[in-house]
Amino acid sequence: MKEFHDLADLSGEEIQDLLTLASRLQTNPEPRALAGKVLALLFMSPSLRTLASFQAAMVRLGGGSFVISPNMSIHGLETRPGIVMDGMAAEHIREAVPVIASYADAIGIRAFAERRKLEDDLADLEYNEMRRLCQVPLINMESAINHPCQSLADWKTMDDLGVAGQGGKFVLSWAYHPRALPLAVPAATVHMAAARGMQVTVLRPEGFELPDAIMQKARQAAEASGGSINETDDRAAAVAGAHVIYAKSWSSTRHYGDRIEDQDLRNDLDHWRVDDSWFDTADTGCHFMHCLPVRRGVVVTDEVLDGPRSVVIQEAQNRMYAQMAVLHRIMLQP
Ligand code: CP
Repeated sequence: MKEFHDLADLSGEEIQDLLTLASRLQTNPEPRALAGKVLALLFMSPSLRTLASFQAAMVRLGGGSFVISPNMSIHGLETRPGIVMDGMAAEHIREAVPVIASYADAIGIRAFAERRKLEDDLADLEYNEMRRLCQVPLINMESAINHPCQSLADWKTMDDLGVAGQGGKFVLSWAYHPRALPLAVPAATVHMAAARGMQVTVLRPEGFELPDAIMQKARQAAEASGGSINETDDRAAAVAGAHVIYAKSWSSTRHYGDRIEDQDLRNDLDHWRVDDSWFDTADTGCHFMHCLPVRRGVVVTDEVLDGPRSVVIQEAQNRMYAQMAVLHRIMLQP
């Protein structure tokens, strides 16, 4: 494997191989597997889980890592092509990315959703610009429109919990948040659940429909896996019998890039905060999932987050095991 960019690039067998390896490394550690190997981690936006879990994964496999973040340690990084650099940024990604990559055996990049033009973010412009500059294997640590590391960990979490692929009912629900957030996690999650063969419902208020390109990609995955995809604003119908409710907020796609219109639309939607009542008609064993970070009392109530349905800590821990498998395959296979 030369790149971990999108779960959609991998066959079902390749995904299963990564999941099997992740579980094997969890139970049978290989503390010298990546001895002498170096992973570069470039963060263009903040992180807790991705930053810590990649560093921990490298240490557990016997390798090392270094972190570069424009806000932490270095001169500002310019990403725009063709710009006259007379502002704050003293260095351009055109030099910085190849230099960073030249110190490492693989590089992980977290890019940033501009959230100005939907077409630009759907095309993952910034991430793809940096991807083009890499001479070593690349791991997508979240781009404008994808988060494959989160999706692999979430797939493993559902496997660990015994949530059915075929026949499992998965609800990806928009949840209230005061600010417009990127589409990366919802886009990756709807595809992941479809590729896993689940009956997927995207539950969202009017104006927060997922873009056609994201839904179409998920539909193709569902066709291949035997799953299904629906989209609705009818919460009662969506959550009935659900095995998983996965909450996430995202930007209004109707007013993408327009902060004022987006704000107007979401202002009255704080009843989209997940609470215990959402589970009344769900399957008795229904799990609550969220990628974190999450705002308590805003996106979801404490009673759900602290209750037995919540598997958010398991999801976060599985980030490390899933990424250990990706690093193992990327750094050790020709
Ligand atoms: N879920 C996730 O990627 O978390 P961080 O933004 O903290 O890395």
